[in-house]
Amino acid sequence: MNILVTGGAGYIGSATAAQLIEGGHSVTVFDSLVTGHREAIPAGAKFIHADLGDFQAVESAFRHNAFDAIMHFAAFIEAGESMKDPGKFFRNNLAYTLNLLDVGEKFGVKKIVFSSTAAVFKSSEQPLGEESQIEPANAYGFSKYAVEQSLEWYRKIHGLRYAVLRYFNASGAMPDRGEAHQPESHLIPRIMAVALGQATHATIFGTDYPTPDGTCIRDYIHISDLVSAHLLALDALVDHDKLVYCLGSGNGYSVRQVIEMVEKVSGKPIAVVEEARRAGDAARLIASSEKIKKELGWKPQNDDLEKIIRSAWDWHHSHPNGYHRD
Ligand SMILES: NC(=O)c1ccc[n+]([C@@H]2O[C@H](COP(=O)([O-])OP(=O)(O)OC[C@H]3O[C@@H](n4cnc5c(N)ncnc54)[C@H](O)[C@@H]3O)[C@@H](O)[C@H]2O)c1
Repeated sequence: MNILVTGGAGYIGSATAAQLIEGGHSVTVFDSLVTGHREAIPAGAKFIHADLGDFQAVESAFRHNAFDAIMHFAAFIEAGESMKDPGKFFRNNLAYTLNLLDVGEKFGVKKIVFSSTAAVFKSSEQPLGEESQIEPANAYGFSKYAVEQSLEWYRKIHGLRYAVLRYFNASGAMPDRGEAHQPESHLIPRIMAVALGQATHATIFGTDYPTPDGTCIRDYIHISDLVSAHLLALDALVDHDKLVYCLGSGNGYSVRQVIEMVEKVSGKPIAVVEEARRAGDAARLIASSEKIKKELGWKPQNDDLEKIIRSAWDWHHSHPNGYHRD
């Protein structure tokens, strides 16, 4: 297939693009590089350096390429920032996605796989599945849910076939691709920076959550398992017009447990500073991914925290400056 990968210079998009190419697909990466890295775009992908907010650039991409499907990763992802500047997230994540959907419709592209998030759900003691209560704790989560709902209207009105993948915390690395957000707010790479001597301490935001050690609990899913789910979802759109799946390992780890695992794997002590809770952080988000396992035969291979942290440590240790060599 000829596939448009928006956000293909980012962490998850670039890893998926690489896997698609390996599987024999043609890939065009559309990315503004606002947070992504040119170096992460796989060799073998075409690259369009443009912003989804630029309607003409989006049109031109579709006019010059006969895409069969879209994989839509491009977004702003900082939940904390979304609670300070929600308009930035609604514009980039929702409004600019409508450019993509409208142009896709104009050029007859009928399949899309969309990166959604666990942040659409209300925090719960129970593992979260597709039917769990939707109640985003932050504007980022709302922006993603608004896209999910828009996709449903495009399905009803235009016959768009879509797969929504609500993932929990993407983590870990492939040998040549790792997590390097700019700025980095994600827990594991921030702790890695401390282990590498690039930061003085890791910050724990909130130690009074109703969890066993008082810190937030999250479900970490390895990047390679996320990528395999995207490929399965894309294939499944041949037979289905609407797929919604939760993707996670099903295991929850507290911030303190993650820090301890990095200490174990890296052999370095991690200094910690405790601060107040951040707005928009849910206490506990753990996935139930039974539906995608049952329906698409998805089998996560790296669902253990130690394996995830080891792969992340290997990448950060061998790429101390991320994708930048200097
Ligand atoms: N990282 C996670 O843990 C996680 C969890 C759940 C969902 N997601 C979703 O997965 C997707 C990818 O996340 P990631 O961690 O790879 O983030 P990332 O920041 O590494 O990648 C996002 C990419 O999108 C590009 N981009 C952003 N806005 C754009 C625009 N308007 N036009 C063109 N390009 C634009 C950026 O330059 C970047 O390359 C996002 O949609 C995110 O919401 C991520």
